[in-house]
Amino acid sequence: MVRFPPILRRWMTLLVIVFVVLFVGSRIIVVMNSPSLYYYDEEEIQEGLWDGLLQLIQYNEEREESAPLANEISSYRSLQWSLIQSRKVEALSLTEDEQTIQIHLPGWDFTEYANPPEEQIDNTKEEFTFSDETRATKLPKMKYPVQNRFPIIIWWTPFTGHKHIVRQCGHGRCLFSHNRELKDHTKTRALMWYGTDLKFKDLPLPRQSKHDWALLHEESPKNNWPIVHKPIISLFNHTCTFRRESSYPITLQYLPSMEYLTAPLLFDVLEKNRFISEQGLAPVLYVQSDCDVPSDRDRYVKKLMEYIKVDSLGKCLHNKDLPDEYVDPLTMDKEGFHKIIAKYKFTVSFENAVCNDYITEKLWRTLSLGSLPIYMGSPSVQDWMPTTKALILANDYPTVEALANYIKFLDENDDEYEQYFDFKNPGKITNSLLKNTMKSRTWGVDDIEQENFIDGFECHVCDRVFEELLADAKRQKPPTFQANDSHYGCPRPQPAVPGMKMDNSLRSWVEEFDTRSAVIAKATQQMVKSGANSSRVLNDFIKKVFSEMKSNNFDHNHYENELVS
Ligand SMILES: *[C@@H]1O[C@H](CO)[C@@H](O)[C@H](O)[C@H]1NC(C)=O
Ligand SMILES: *[C@@H]1O[C@H](CO)[C@@H](O)[C@H](O)[C@H]1NC(C)=O
Ligand SMILES: *[C@@H]1O[C@H](CO)[C@@H](O)[C@H](O)[C@H]1NC(C)=O
Repeated sequence: MVRFPPILRRWMTLLVIVFVVLFVGSRIIVVMNSPSLYYYDEEEIQEGLWDGLLQLIQYNEEREESAPLANEISSYRSLQWSLIQSRKVEALSLTEDEQTIQIHLPGWDFTEYANPPEEQIDNTKEEFTFSDETRATKLPKMKYPVQNRFPIIIWWTPFTGHKHIVRQCGHGRCLFSHNRELKDHTKTRALMWYGTDLKFKDLPLPRQSKHDWALLHEESPKNNWPIVHKPIISLFNHTCTFRRESSYPITLQYLPSMEYLTAPLLFDVLEKNRFISEQGLAPVLYVQSDCDVPSDRDRYVKKLMEYIKVDSLGKCLHNKDLPDEYVDPLTMDKEGFHKIIAKYKFTVSFENAVCNDYITEKLWRTLSLGSLPIYMGSPSVQDWMPTTKALILANDYPTVEALANYIKFLDENDDEYEQYFDFKNPGKITNSLLKNTMKSRTWGVDDIEQENFIDGFECHVCDRVFEELLADAKRQKPPTFQANDSHYGCPRPQPAVPGMKMDNSLRSWVEEFDTRSAVIAKATQQMVKSGANSSRVLNDFIKKVFSEMKSNNFDHNHYENELVS
């Protein structure tokens, strides 16, 4: 054996290392530099891809003979076969410019669902050209378990901050993307909207039968009324709303935890009484800066003020100043502001709209802070309360005066008042719907340790798409997923004070409900059902709906001009 001097040996080792680094590195770079590696023009290299890439490189090295990656197209076929047969990689394909090989990793099925090509690549054939057609048809037929399929789900209204993200859900993995160009991709199975951004002149038409539509809207209808109407909501297959009937309900979206609810009282009733007598606080607090909302709450509170003293610290019905540092709504959660609420015996907690199960932080925060809520909003709110006696429902009283009298009664009877906080004591929460829903909830509120409901809804849609794929693979009857107005619907706005005449603000909400949004809803449904190839023709359908209404003596000019413009 030849023995080299140590210095030469060191140099040789270094040389080998440099060579290996350059050799392996060049291959990684070839692949990494090509955006199309990611098939979906993905910019980030995700974990799963790295694993596959490393396996591929390792595999090449183990094969001894260095297998080409990009440029040596002649070896492409054999590389493909050996890799596929080794199960390290499921398939390889070339990009348009034939400069890059796309790697199809184990478990990442990039082939077609329907009619996988029957024909196998003829390994004996010498010539092999990579026209579009051969690329599409000559990939070998693979037997993928359905779980390994890889559906694409598009956020039609970008919402999540992720341009692309792959989620591992219960039944399999889905790619969630903001890229609208994937609309006609064969693997696209669902499209998602955020309700506020849903625009009826901007829909992916014609709707494909394999495209599920999914809607996330945690808010009241105030910022997109057509959604309350059945013709719109029933265009969707999967819904995530405050309604318990929605397919992924988030009724308790503003309740972080049971501990939040049972947080100890900051001030007991004697201290609260002292704030009234010594600091001149009113018994009742109102803090709203969003005025003239569909629930008509301001007019109710104005009437209430005729019978009992209410401190109104927000912009609406303002009669007392907040300390300067709380005027900005963004600081509303600051501790000091919470202390202000906690000092009041009663807090008016009226939602901006009246819808079943629409319950916001206005109520939960008041309960948490230990001020007694005077509530108007979800008619079914009692279903979610910790005990049957945790809040005062304005609608239980035939008149505002009757409500005021009851508040005064509680204000003067400390024992009666304190009963409303029984749920703060250990073991006193009697509502099993509330307890069970919180216990089984898989998402968190402002909790970095848990996924949020947006992540959860994405997986809900992904899993339902897989249910459809699985049924299809087993040749079973596919499940149907169909939303209806119980998934969102809210009733027509009406005066908060029973029997009070409408004012201009309320009238405009009612018109919005009865006319503008109803027409858009009907026209949109007709447009989608007609198979229209673009939602820009919505105006034609709006005109049609109006002409139907015209024959019912409807004064349409006003609305028609407004809607069609
Ligand atoms: C999704 O909803 C549309 C519109 O109602 C319906 O035609 C389609 O069958 C639904 N898809 C599933 C899987 O139920
Ligand atoms: C509406 O949807 C709910 C929940 O998916 C379902 O239970 C109910 O039967 C549906 N109602 C109608 C009228 O189809
Ligand atoms: C869309 O529909 C219109 C009217 O029905 C038709 O004239 C047009 O050719 C269609 N466009 C496409 C791309 O199919």
